[in-house]
Amino acid sequence: MDIIVTDDHDALSNKASEIILECIHQKPGSVLGLATGRTPVETYRKLVQAYEADRVDFSHVKVFHLDEYLGLDKDDSDSYSYYLHETLLDKVNLRKENIHLISERLLEKRRSLHHYDRLIDRNGGIDLQLLGIGSNGHIGFNEPDTDLYLDTHIAKLAKETIRTNRTLFNDKSKMPSKAITMGIRSVFKARRIILLASGPDKSDIMNDFIHSETITPSIPATFLKLHGNVTVIIDKAAAQKYLDKKGNDHDHIN
Ligand code: PGA
Repeated sequence: MDIIVTDDHDALSNKASEIILECIHQKPGSVLGLATGRTPVETYRKLVQAYEADRVDFSHVKVFHLDEYLGLDKDDSDSYSYYLHETLLDKVNLRKENIHLISERLLEKRRSLHHYDRLIDRNGGIDLQLLGIGSNGHIGFNEPDTDLYLDTHIAKLAKETIRTNRTLFNDKSKMPSKAITMGIRSVFKARRIILLASGPDKSDIMNDFIHSETITPSIPATFLKLHGNVTVIIDKAAAQKYLDKKGNDHDHIN
């Protein structure tokens, strides 16, 4: 795992967006796996800026969605579909047919959750998967548990996730208790994974995750240690405990 520590959230977002731009430049038909949550908002804003400055063409790019709440309409302003449309998809020249969002329609045909994984495979697999991390170590909505699901599935949200994510809801009473998420294998099949962590709330989990010498379903992110191409981009606030433990021997960018 490569670990890049940045001075602040802005530098983290710059670094992440530059990696995504480089991926698209090298392969104009790149398949991107998109995370949601607070952390990548600024990264997406920088991608939109790059598009507006004619630095990138999304017309051949394909995107897949990491996870979505269950029980929200896709047009609900608290859904992740809405979030992605607002932050990125509607602001660049992505083609409609290249946007693949997880939706309750997948559930209407019962066996079709695995169809999502097959759809990713049929599109050549994900070139670059962007991930955040929950303060409990979840990736996507693969929550700490005794077993982790391999493929796209319905997940029961952890209490901690519900508590944290509810604060972001416009209508807090609508916070769902379940979600659809890509599984560990779905994420793992990506050729490259970029995990972002920002802010002091992530300092404990990033210390536990990076220093963990085992892989454990109690910290789902530890499974990323088995993947050969993971870049962790972390700002100083989220890296504080990890750096305290490690000393100052780290890659550093401004
Ligand atoms: P956040 O969420 O970016 O809002 O911190 C990350 C996650 O839960 O995966």
